[in-house]
Amino acid sequence: MLGVYTSRNGPQPLGTVVFEEIEEKAKEKLKEYPGAFMYAAGNAGTHQTYRANRRAFEKYSIIPRMLVESTFRDIRVNLFGKTSSAPLVIAPIGVQSLFHPEGEIASAKAAQALGIPYIMSSGSSRTTEEVAVANGGGERWYQLYWPVPGTKEITESVLTRAKAAGFTALVVTLDATIFGWRTHDLNKSYAPGRHGLGAQIGISDPVFMGRFGKKPITQTKPQWPYQPDVLDKKVAEGDEEERERALLGAEWAKECNTHFKTWGDLEHLREFWDGPLILKGIQHVTDAERVLEYGVDGIVVSNHGGRQLDGAIPSLCALERICKSQRIKEAQRLGRLTVLFDSGVRTGPDMFKALALGAQAILLGRPWLYGMILGGQAGLEQVIRHTLADFDNTLALSGYPNLVDFQGKANMVLMKLD
Ligand code: FNR
Repeated sequence: MLGVYTSRNGPQPLGTVVFEEIEEKAKEKLKEYPGAFMYAAGNAGTHQTYRANRRAFEKYSIIPRMLVESTFRDIRVNLFGKTSSAPLVIAPIGVQSLFHPEGEIASAKAAQALGIPYIMSSGSSRTTEEVAVANGGGERWYQLYWPVPGTKEITESVLTRAKAAGFTALVVTLDATIFGWRTHDLNKSYAPGRHGLGAQIGISDPVFMGRFGKKPITQTKPQWPYQPDVLDKKVAEGDEEERERALLGAEWAKECNTHFKTWGDLEHLREFWDGPLILKGIQHVTDAERVLEYGVDGIVVSNHGGRQLDGAIPSLCALERICKSQRIKEAQRLGRLTVLFDSGVRTGPDMFKALALGAQAILLGRPWLYGMILGGQAGLEQVIRHTLADFDNTLALSGYPNLVDFQGKANMVLMKLD
């Protein structure tokens, strides 16, 4: 089990365990690059779904039990046949060099140190191979945006590389077919992909680069700090390297801008990827049940943290509805489907509630990102450690010391407020 946070001198390196304070400090740290901070913190539309995600946790209360022997709490979990030190996964977050010079290298190293799975975004600012080296012997999953990439041959090339680099599971994100209505980015024309920052998956790919008669890059040149205005100026002044990067970035964006995928398209992915296949962004019970027909191994109940469809159902409410389905329950019981959850998790009790409602593990997003902004790998590790310490504390005080005591047992351990 991960060591719980025990220091009495204040948590290091962030100095606080309070999410809102960490977020505020991250904003301050990036004050010269407000576009980058808003890209992290921003949500779609009027931020209705973002707020609703958080508020949903207050609708459920834990009913504690007393006089339970809880000296030892075991939070290890088996996910797709591998033991993880906690039911927590590093959610995929793209273009991490916007936020810290080490970007994905720092987060991949942290996940290995913590013994939890790492999901690499296909919008990564480092190549698949570089992230794999940083993650070493860690458990890593590869996230693919759909419909990215557009063509079968590039999809296959990208997945073959992921497989060769030791990514065991494929996470296909379904709720970001196009960008959400993110007013803060729209108002400032802030597009992190404009200078090829999130195009490393393409420019490191032999099939994509072959189209232009070029060799794929094997090592990324960190673009830190990322200042689109400065880069625009460089391109306008004829800087060859920046011009080429921007052009290839634009070509990659075109590659990604293709038709919407539908259920039938899953068959190709299922045939091609022989490891666990997980669909991220499932919110409707009918969709959750339908995945069972396609040999899918897992779902992430998620609304992208409220960054995509504003007004969408709070993720925790979607989880409750999905996990009440008898077909889903049966598939979970038989080990045919693993239900994961994200959007709005900030504390140990939040994790407890989602697990009680039926999730088998949680993906954490912005909390770790802010930790990384402030303290790189060490900052990220602190966030995960204190979140897990809070979770461990919740298990002790509620009298449910093992995951089996409460996972999927909402009707016994939670009360829903009206
Ligand atoms: C994301 N998310 C995301 N999801 C995904 O599947 N691929 C990606 O590349 C990204 N990129 C990304 C960037 C940033 C800056 C954020 C904040 C989020 C969504 C992410 O995986 C997760 O679903 C949400 O972050 C979960 O919500 P919370 O924990 O941030 O509330």
